[in-house]
This record gives sequence, C-alpha cells and structure tokens, in this order.
Amino acid sequence: MEQFLIGGSGAKASTGGGKKKAAPRVLPWIEKYRPKGVNDVCAQEEVVAMLKAVLIEGKELPNMLFYGPPGTGKTSTILAMARDMFGNLASERVCELNASDERGIAVVREKVKNFAMTTANSQRADGKKCPNFKLIILDEADSMTKSAQEALRRTMEVYSKSTRFCLLCNYVSRIIDPITSRTAKFRFRLLPKEIQYNQIRHIREAENVQISENAVEELISVAAGDMRRAVNFLQSLHRLHEDEITPDDVRDVAILCPAEKIDEVIREARSKSYENMLTKVQALLQDGYPAGQFMHQLQDAVIADDAIEDFQKVNIINQIGKADHALTDGADEKVQILAIVSVLQRELSR
Ligand SMILES: Nc1ncnc2c1ncn2[C@@H]1O[C@H](COP(=O)(O)OP(=O)(O)OP(=O)(O)O)[C@@H](O)[C@H]1O
Ligand SMILES: [Mg+2]
Repeated sequence: MEQFLIGGSGAKASTGGGKKKAAPRVLPWIEKYRPKGVNDVCAQEEVVAMLKAVLIEGKELPNMLFYGPPGTGKTSTILAMARDMFGNLASERVCELNASDERGIAVVREKVKNFAMTTANSQRADGKKCPNFKLIILDEADSMTKSAQEALRRTMEVYSKSTRFCLLCNYVSRIIDPITSRTAKFRFRLLPKEIQYNQIRHIREAENVQISENAVEELISVAAGDMRRAVNFLQSLHRLHEDEITPDDVRDVAILCPAEKIDEVIREARSKSYENMLTKVQALLQDGYPAGQFMHQLQDAVIADDAIEDFQKVNIINQIGKADHALTDGADEKVQILAIVSVLQRELSR
C-alpha cells in the first residue's frame, strides 16, 4: 500500500552487489506518472472540486463511490487524496483492499471492522493537522459478494465517526442499493483526447520517446479514453523500437485487426456465402486477434458504413452488445463471434 501511495518515487533503487553501479530501476510508467496529489488528477472535474473543497475549506469528506470505465483515474484519485490528507501518516491511516484480497463476508466483519474500530488522532508527527478518521478503500468493489456488501452497510454506519469508505468499481449496477444510497457517487468519464495528448506529450518529453505526431494520434485513438492503455502502450513501444515509432507500430502493439480484414468480413457477409465469411473470421481469430477487439472494430465499421441501413445497424449492434455482455460473464469467444457474424449476414444479405 505504502509503495502504491508514494507512486514509486520513494521506492528504493536496488543497490546491486559490491562497487557495481546499480542497474536503473524500470518502473512501469503508469506508476511513475500516477498523479501524486489531487492537483495532478486530470479532468474528472466534479470529484476533484469536491476533494479540493475538503482539503482547502475543511469540508467533511463523505463516504464515496467512484465508478466508471478502466484507466480513468479512480484508484489514482483516491490514493492522491489519501496522500494529500494524511501525508506521511498515509500508510497507517489507509486500508486498501482489492479483488486479489479475500473480501468475503468474514473479511468485512473482521479486517475492515478491526481497522475501523481503532481511533485516529488529528495531528501528524510533524505537527501538521490531519483528519481524525481512517480511510478504507475497497477497490474493484463490484466483484464483492452481495453478502459482503450487506455486511459492509452496517459496518459503514457503526463506524461512521472514525472511518470513511471509498468504493471503486467499473459497474455501479453491481453495487447494492443500500450501499449506493449511503455514498456520494462520482462518475469517472473517459478522458478527453486533449487531456490524453497532454499526458502522452509530457511522458514523451520526460522519457525522450521517439514517436511521430501521427503515431501519438493513433495511440490516443486506440486507447479510447483509457489512460492506462495509452501509457502502457507507449512504454511497450519505447522498449520495442529504437527508431521513431510509427502509427503501424502502434496498431501492432494494440493488436488491432487490420481494417481491410474487417472490410473483407463485411464484404463476404453481403455476398451471401456463409462459408466464405466464416473462413475470413476464423482466419482473424487464428491470427490471434482477440474476439473483443474484432467485435469493437466490426461495430465501428458497421456504424461508419453508409451503405448499411439504420434498422440493420440496430440489429447488428444489438447482437454485438449481447455478445459483449456474455463475454464479460465468461462466455465462449467463438460462439459469441459466430452469433455476431450470423446476424451480420442475415442483415446484410436481405
Ligand atoms: N484522471 C487522470 N489523471 C491523471 N492520470 C490518470 C487519470 N486517469 C488515469 N490516469 C493514469 O492512468 C493510470 C491508471 O489509472 P487508475 O489506476 O487510476 O485507473 P482506474 O480508473 O482505477 O482503472 P480501473 O477501473 O481499471 O481500476 C494511472 O497510473 C495514471 O497514470
Ligand atoms: Mg483502479
């Protein structure tokens, strides 16, 4: 947790043996460039304004629920807030549990309760004031069982004086109503392109990455508002390429299906030959392109295709939506892709 909070900047570099120069530590850039304080959080104006009001005007911090798509700053924002609020006391004032920890009902009853029970004073060792409560961060809260969530609502009430809870999740619909009604809810939005540009340009300068302007644009477009994706791709590209990174390199690292292959699938769907269409799709999957990726690119291509009538688009996209949902629940990729292309052909060969 502490290492998380200090964003890696305070992590000790490996000293190596004897007089050998220590090898430079390669820190994942998503950690290195994680916002250090609330001021560094980009966009997400609503939550940032509320947190600043707590920090600057001394307003009460409510129990909170942050929800929204991956890579938009939920974890970073609450960790930045913890650091701003508690300073060097953060490690003892914050308890962070994520999906990799056991978070069944027993943990909520014991671990969370024990942490919440002990009181905290309102002064840091350096004499500075600091809130007299503790913060419990439940990351990926949408994967908590219903019974654990039930147990949590009582704990939240009982320890409301000494503790603040912050739940983070992607799917707010998986959080039970009694919890959502006890928290201030903040929706995290996909990061706007210009914000992503600024961040990527900043990292490009700081790390001296050789990347063309077109490739930066491709990177932002591929990341689609997910800052983690953009930064991770940039780091992988930097490792892989000594020469200037091009848009094609970006598409390679993002495992984007080549646009012409998607067009071929659509063309075969129109030609009424189910077998030909299937051959094209299977070739794509055999080449290792992920089903989810194929699905999303097919969706974009269908939406952009003026030759497809609106009612046909509705039916195709409806099927893609169902498949997307099924895949999130662990359905078989091949079956879902077959369902999509079957509808695609039915619609396009009318
Ligand atoms: N709003 C933001 N401002 C600045 N950096 C951001 C922001 N959102 C994301 N990032 C960058 O992207 C990385 C991932 O962000 P973070 O872990 O906070 O995402 P998340 O919303 O918690 O995602 P998930 O839902 O997958 O847990 C961070 O390390 C940070 O560098
Ligand atoms: Mg997170």
